[in-house]
Amino acid sequence: MTADRTIIARDSLRAQLLWWLVPPVLVVALVSSFISYTIALGYANHAYDQRLFDEAKSLAEQVRFSPDGQPILELPRAAEEMLRSDPVDRIFYRVLSVTGETVAGRSDLPAPREPARPDQPVYYDAMVGDAPVRVCAYRLVDGTTSSAATILVGETLIKRDTLSKNLLVSDFLTPMVALPIVIAVILWFGIRHGLNPLQHLAGTLAKRGWNDLSAISDHGVPQEVRPLTHAIGDLMQRLAAALSAQQRFISEAAHQLRTPLAGVTAQTERALLAQDFETVKPALAQLQVASRRAARLVKQLLTLARAEPGSDWARDFRLLDLGGLVQRTCVEWVPEALEKGVDLGFAGESAPVMVNGDELLLTEMLNNLIDNALRHGARPGGSVTVRLVRSPHIELSVEDDGPGIPEEERSRIFERFHRMSGTRPEGSGLGLAIVREIARAHGAEVSVRPKCPERGAVFCVVFT
Ligand SMILES: Nc1ncnc2c1ncn2[C@@H]1O[C@H](COP(=O)(O)OP(=O)(O)O)[C@@H](O)[C@H]1O
Ligand SMILES: [Mg+2]
Repeated sequence: MTADRTIIARDSLRAQLLWWLVPPVLVVALVSSFISYTIALGYANHAYDQRLFDEAKSLAEQVRFSPDGQPILELPRAAEEMLRSDPVDRIFYRVLSVTGETVAGRSDLPAPREPARPDQPVYYDAMVGDAPVRVCAYRLVDGTTSSAATILVGETLIKRDTLSKNLLVSDFLTPMVALPIVIAVILWFGIRHGLNPLQHLAGTLAKRGWNDLSAISDHGVPQEVRPLTHAIGDLMQRLAAALSAQQRFISEAAHQLRTPLAGVTAQTERALLAQDFETVKPALAQLQVASRRAARLVKQLLTLARAEPGSDWARDFRLLDLGGLVQRTCVEWVPEALEKGVDLGFAGESAPVMVNGDELLLTEMLNNLIDNALRHGARPGGSVTVRLVRSPHIELSVEDDGPGIPEEERSRIFERFHRMSGTRPEGSGLGLAIVREIARAHGAEVSVRPKCPERGAVFCVVFT
């Protein structure tokens, strides 16, 4: 089944090699057998012509000249019979005097267009009745009278035609049929043998465990295939790195979830031991904090999964007004800001600022930035400003007048689960990683800079 498919598949390497090799080899074979056919035919015709010349010479031996130079053919019966003795072809002869008179033989055997030279035969094709003939003309000069005679011997072409047909079959047609088959079979096995290392390689890779991402050894791998195996090796290395990052992420996420869940368990046990509602209340409050933390973490994990490149989560990208989205989100954060005594304000464009994006993801991005500004940045009495600028690029920023981010932390705070030391215990370190993934998903870049040289942080998302 597999072998059959390999024979048919047009995109198989074997089929392509055959396709590129067989036709040119066939053309070469065709041309060379045609040349050998024409050469063989030339030699055979030459041999027949030579025989015709011999016959003309033996006929010439029977020619006598009268004293007035007139040629006379004295053909003994035996010689005449010999001329007729060819079992296949008919032979004609004719003897002409110098004046062109037929002295003997068939007068319808055509004479050469140019007179034959002494001792040098002339060959030409002619017709006797309906029969095509090959003629040899020979000029005989009499030593005594200095007179001459032209001797013509013609022969039908049956033998020559049969020979040319036989040569055509043996020199041309047989190789034409046999060669393609022989060449294809040789190439087939040759290519199969040549491709064996690839099959071996495929077998070795197929036997690997899913987590074996080690490099492929060069041993037994043909030189031409090594760039491919090296590229696969590189890919495997990147996959291994991604896999271990994924595993670290999962264990970190599990670790982060364990803390609020442990709180839930402890507070539940405490509540169960309580005798009256008043003693249960603090435990319930703690329970609420822990379960909110767990819920927030789960929500963040889901958002991160959704924003990641190549995620299967359907993103709903469409043209939307970022200005409206930012203002609505700010309004939602006002109660929390009031509670913390922070002045939360919006500045910038009032006209619609259109971007192509996912409304939920963009809201989540801004939520994280405002949450950080209120949580880690602004102090009571401080302020948080959300700004949206249209040019030169659409730029969304959230600034606070808190302690700011030290320079050495500015790139690291965007890593997953990274939190600066001394940060308040709530939170997971996923917020800014989410912001970065969502920005990237929208073709934007996020960065942070201080608001003043010593204080404050400005988180800036630039859409390019
Ligand atoms: N506006 C800010 N001012 C000061 N520090 C901040 C600010 N935003 C973020 N950070 C620091 O960056 C860290 C990472 O932030 P984030 O990824 O949102 O995690 P989380 O808020 O869960 O701690 C925070 O723990 C905090 O130390
Ligand atoms: Mg955060």
